[in-house]
Formats: sequence, C-alpha cells, structure tokens
Amino acid sequence: MKVGVLGAVPEEVELLNQDLAAAGKDIVGNRTYRFGRLYGQEVILAHARMGKVAAAITATRLLETYGADLVLFVGVAGAVAPDVSIGDIVVASELMQHDMDARPLFPQYEIPLLDSDRFTVDPDLIEGALEAAQGYIQEDLPRDISSAQRESLGLTSPKALSGLIVSGDQFIHDPRHLAEIHRHLPDAKCVEMEGAAVAQVCAEHQIPCLVIRTVSDRADGKAGKDFSVFIEQAARYYSRGIVRRLFSLF
Ligand code: ADE
Repeated sequence: MKVGVLGAVPEEVELLNQDLAAAGKDIVGNRTYRFGRLYGQEVILAHARMGKVAAAITATRLLETYGADLVLFVGVAGAVAPDVSIGDIVVASELMQHDMDARPLFPQYEIPLLDSDRFTVDPDLIEGALEAAQGYIQEDLPRDISSAQRESLGLTSPKALSGLIVSGDQFIHDPRHLAEIHRHLPDAKCVEMEGAAVAQVCAEHQIPCLVIRTVSDRADGKAGKDFSVFIEQAARYYSRGIVRRLFSLF
C-alpha cells in the first residue's frame, strides 16, 4: 500500500519531511513530491498549500501520477461545535464543502452532478485514526510540549473525537460567519480549507481518504493569532505523532 500524505501549511509536514527516508523527489506544478518510507510505511509526501483548489491539484497528482492507495491529510482546523476545544483532534467521519452553493440548480451544499453533499470515510480508517490520536494525546503530547507551554496554548485536557468536518475557501474568523456555519450545519465539529476537496478527488477516483485535524483556534475574532501561535508551537508535533502512531497500526 502507498499512502499519499498531505498538509496545507509547511509546519504541518515539517517533521514528517525530516523523518522521511526519501528515495527521490519530483518538483512539478509548483509542488515537491517526496517518495520513500516514513515510519515503515511507503509514502508520497507533499505540501499541498492552502485552499480547496491547491489541495485538489495535489491530491489528484498523488492518485493519478503516483498511484496512492490512500490519501491522508493532516493539519489544523478551527472549532465549530461548542464542545470542541483547542488541542482536540478531530477525525473526519464525513466531509462537506460549506461554501458550495449552486442554488437554484442544486440544493445548497450538494456537489453538482454527484447527487450528494457529504463524503464519508471508511469506519476502519476512522477507528485506527482515533486510536492513533488518543495514543498521541495520552502518551506523546506531554513529552512534545511542556506543561507550561500546553497551559499557555490552552491545551487543558485535549481529546480525540470523530465527526463532520467542513471545508471552504475562507479562513473563518468572524463570529457571525462561524454562527452561520454552525446554524446551517449543526453537526459540524470543525472547519478548515482543504479536507472536503481531497475527499471529493478521492471519492471520484474511488480511493479512500482520511482527514485528521487538530483544533488550533475557535474560528472567532482571535482565530488569526491563535492559529499562528498553534502552528508555530504545536502543529508539527501533532502531525508527526499522529502519523507515526497511525502507520504503526497499518
Ligand atoms: N484552519 C485552522 N483554523 C481555521 C479557521 N478558523 N478557518 C478555516 N480554516 C482553518
């Protein structure tokens, strides 16, 4: 099995890139694809960059050029559900594009001509990802980030959960926008900018995908600052720890 591993922000793939025993690389279409073994797993690793188009371009290449059998997207997200906190890990069970709106031709959120507004994730993959996320929080996180730093980041008692992740080409930081997403999609756990695009690419190629997000901010007026601090101080450790634990289960 060959796993395509993606992140949107350089820090999200930084330690994975360091740990990859790279056998080669391709630089094409403004992206670097590195091949090799990561924690014993054959992978193609790339920095996709932010947004649905960037993610879709990169995921498509992973599938069509490099023959990935699974695409794994790791990175951060903003909380949408009130019971989701900074530092929690959300494994997507379903993904939607919250900015898809082709009304009156199709119902709001429906992907035109796919007859559906949600992409679902294989239950066995969700289970493995939750196990990896829980293991990371309990055993590795306290070693990666000191208790003083965890406190200053607001990582009081992080948890792993699964649920709906919504994606769109906006960084959500206006409380009114957040409230609108929550009102329209009350089961959404968190919001990001790539996952549902990767899920669509994978669904249309009939290849499984897995999206695992750590909550960096509350998608509110403080989101910009919280995001930057979390990316700088924590995101790289979460990505490495989750992926390492997940691959040990494959
Ligand atoms: N990724 C991390 N935080 C986010 C936010 N608030 N909106 C969109 N994507 C995000």
